[in-house]
Amino acid sequence: MSLPVAVLVSGSGSNLQSIIDHIEAGHIDARITAVISNKADAYGLTRARKHDIPALALPHDAYPDRVAFDAALLAAVRDSGAEAVVLAGFMRILGSDFVAAYRDRIINIHPALLPSFPGLHGQGDAAAYGVTISGATVHFVDEKMDNGPIIIQAAVPALPDDDAGSLGARILAFEHRIYPQALAWLAAGRLTIDGRKTRLAPADVPPADLAAAGPCLVNPPLERGF
Ligand code: GRF
Repeated sequence: MSLPVAVLVSGSGSNLQSIIDHIEAGHIDARITAVISNKADAYGLTRARKHDIPALALPHDAYPDRVAFDAALLAAVRDSGAEAVVLAGFMRILGSDFVAAYRDRIINIHPALLPSFPGLHGQGDAAAYGVTISGATVHFVDEKMDNGPIIIQAAVPALPDDDAGSLGARILAFEHRIYPQALAWLAAGRLTIDGRKTRLAPADVPPADLAAAGPCLVNPPLERGF
């Protein structure tokens, strides 16, 4: 049975779009029960509606405090029937009650190679620091920001003249590949958490040729279709 997932967004939702496209292509055994945003004008909501996915705005500033917003968010996710939660550019920290309700079933994508450059400005911080490699990380969510066990990372070159925009664009192209892959693994029940590590059960299909990923390191290797 397809894994019912809720996707939380705050902005453009290009990662949401990539996930929708891979679900529609039959690469991920999941269905999106709802796309929920804390911003009423998030383009991610429009993307959802274009695919007949229930889209809901829950503006955080309409709630008296963080706890009240978190409770409303949790209720909306539960009401949708979701059994897992995908954070796709969701710019709010989830409260401990939410994390506890969906423990080990919430995933997030971060635009840097964690544990380097956590926080809101991963791309700009990495570019300003002068690293020569950066990338993206998909990880399970726990109570601490950008902290849970890592599922997959993709590395891309960072160039001396990069800024947040140019490095971020290079990273985003790989976000769109590794996030659907991570969700496919979660939906297939192939991920188990072992302390700080995520273990990936082997697939029936052989992994795609790593060279096809270009001059980048993606580990574990991408499988066919991603
Ligand atoms: C991505 O860079 C993601 O890593 C970060 O927020 C951005 C969301 O982009 N968490 P989009 O809304 O998916 O286009």
